[in-house]
Amino acid sequence: MKFFIDTAEIDEIRALAPSGLVDGVTTNPSLIAKSGRDFKEVVAEICAVVEGPVSAEVTAIESKAMIKEGRALAKIADNVCIKLPLTFDGLVACRALVDDGHQTNVTLCFSANQALLAAKAGATYISPFIGRLDDMGIDGMELIEEIRTIYDNYMFETQILAASIRTVNHVKLSALAGADVATIPPATLKTLTKHPLTDKGLEAFLKDWEKTGQSIL
Ligand code: G3P
Repeated sequence: MKFFIDTAEIDEIRALAPSGLVDGVTTNPSLIAKSGRDFKEVVAEICAVVEGPVSAEVTAIESKAMIKEGRALAKIADNVCIKLPLTFDGLVACRALVDDGHQTNVTLCFSANQALLAAKAGATYISPFIGRLDDMGIDGMELIEEIRTIYDNYMFETQILAASIRTVNHVKLSALAGADVATIPPATLKTLTKHPLTDKGLEAFLKDWEKTGQSIL
């Protein structure tokens, strides 16, 4: 499973990059607004820090304008992945940009039928939003499972990018369901390492080691 980091905060990305856990980054207009940064500047900076795909989202809603914006975003860096909303115009733009040879991430996916359309439009990634479905009392994980089944039935190459991840359980369940990627908020990624027994065990090891009076260096 690939881990993308879901943020536009460059400092958080720089801090996590050395872990080798950052296979890519996803941004969206809300995350860009939250960063307070110039869109193209912060995307360029992220693309220079992270080798993998960096999703940058168009803001037009009509296909011709989406294609124009997508081509402009693709010029920022070779690893820009153009993010498009799952609307009819977004799918038209996706097909055109994929035919141009660009990576695309079709986002705001909330149904298996939407994901089927994105795969038929040649999307590189599909972003089903787990947390926002859960917020409505709908099982977001069921959507990941449905998409996995449909994509496997027809050997679609579109990668399932589990998004709107709010908990470490979302990561585990997405991996169990066969999602190709999880895009994870930085705080949730760090929480993945946490387990009380690990902390307890390490404390005990170090306490016993201290008694030996030895040091490795
Ligand atoms: O990548 C999509 C993600 O940023 C949305 O997350 O928590 O706003 O639903 P959330």
